[in-house]
Amino acid sequence: MNGFLPQGQLQMAPAGFARLLPGVPLLVFAFLPCTITGTELAINNNTTDRWLPTEPGQDQSLSCRVQNPSQAEELLWFREDGRVSLQEGNRVNASDICISPVSVDDNGVSFTCQLARNQSARISVVLDVVFPPILAGENLTSVQEEDDATLNCRTKANPVAEMTWYKDKLFLSLTEPRYRILQSSELFQLVIQKVQKSDSGNYTCMAVSSRGNASWQFQLVVQGNPAWTGLPESKQPAGGCLAVPRGRGPFRLCRAGSGSPRAVGMAAWPAVGSAPWKA
Ligand SMILES: *[C@@H]1O[C@H](CO)[C@@H](O)[C@H](O)[C@H]1NC(C)=O
Ligand SMILES: *[C@@H]1O[C@H](CO)[C@@H](O)[C@H](O)[C@H]1NC(C)=O
Ligand SMILES: *[C@@H]1O[C@H](CO)[C@@H](O)[C@H](O)[C@H]1NC(C)=O
Ligand SMILES: *[C@@H]1O[C@H](CO)[C@@H](O)[C@H](O)[C@H]1NC(C)=O
Ligand SMILES: *[C@@H]1O[C@H](CO)[C@@H](O)[C@H](O)[C@H]1NC(C)=O
Ligand SMILES: *[C@@H]1O[C@H](CO)[C@@H](O)[C@H](O)[C@H]1NC(C)=O
Ligand SMILES: *[C@@H]1O[C@H](CO)[C@@H](O)[C@H](O)[C@H]1NC(C)=O
Repeated sequence: MNGFLPQGQLQMAPAGFARLLPGVPLLVFAFLPCTITGTELAINNNTTDRWLPTEPGQDQSLSCRVQNPSQAEELLWFREDGRVSLQEGNRVNASDICISPVSVDDNGVSFTCQLARNQSARISVVLDVVFPPILAGENLTSVQEEDDATLNCRTKANPVAEMTWYKDKLFLSLTEPRYRILQSSELFQLVIQKVQKSDSGNYTCMAVSSRGNASWQFQLVVQGNPAWTGLPESKQPAGGCLAVPRGRGPFRLCRAGSGSPRAVGMAAWPAVGSAPWKA
């Protein structure tokens, strides 16, 4: 025997007394008082911190009460870190607040009731506002050929929705290396790098959750390179290059580096090989 308690008993020791030094016997446990002296609070008759399930549009009343007060106790309410102003007569021994109506923005927001004289005596509920996905974004995005297109699908959902992109009703295959998808809790973003004319179309951001589905349609219009303005459509090649029949045959004139083709008009083409174009 070295004085250690078996594992099971150790876990039942009160917090703060479980620090064991090797070889120190634990007989002291027998003499600890068993009663809890702190003043206890309850919200809606429950003394545990907890998530409170609710829905947008509902009225949620929170009733904080001091359990068996031995003296008049003043109460404070906080929404997150902000003090809630309470009317006279709604502060002593018990205090009620009402969230009316609950909105989707209240999801994850904490409401805390505490004793004015002792901030350790407190109880919190966190609203768990459940609703079908809500999406929003631009309807029309216009991008110059060869630029990157960014479609931002702003998302709110609880529970978390499964998000997907479609192009013209077809599931967007991510095998295309020009597509990048970024997802955070409130954004589902599709970036198409170096857009081509063929990228024009209707893109749908789709959210599926156990509470319902939602979609938002983005129309992407890829505008031709203005440098080609005036050229017949058949001679406006993709890829930022222009086939120019000259001398012994057609060669390709391409945008060099990151120079913007917007600055270049048909009438003012720099000589081939000079910036921002190269042969
Ligand atoms: C403050 O409240 C805590 C938790 O209820 C309690 O443990 C502590 O003894 C209280 N302190 C005072 C000074 O009443
Ligand atoms: C709390 O419990 C009391 C008595 O048990 C009851 O009268 C009261 O309606 C309950 N309040 C809430 C908010 O559940
Ligand atoms: C208080 O709330 C907790 C967490 O939601 C729950 O597990 C417990 O049963 C509730 N207690 C009472 C007395 O309703
Ligand atoms: C609060 O509780 C205390 C102790 O029970 C009591 O003396 C006091 O009158 C109560 N005050 C109110 C406003 O209920
Ligand atoms: C995209 O949507 C717009 C507006 O809803 C519609 O006019 C257009 O025909 C659609 N284009 C395609 C390729 O489906
Ligand atoms: C949401 O979409 C999923 C998958 O497409 C489908 O199984 C489900 O029935 C849809 N739910 C609703 C409420 O439309
Ligand atoms: C934008 O798109 C959304 C969803 O696709 C649609 O509900 C809304 O009416 C559109 N707004 C305009 C101005 O076209």
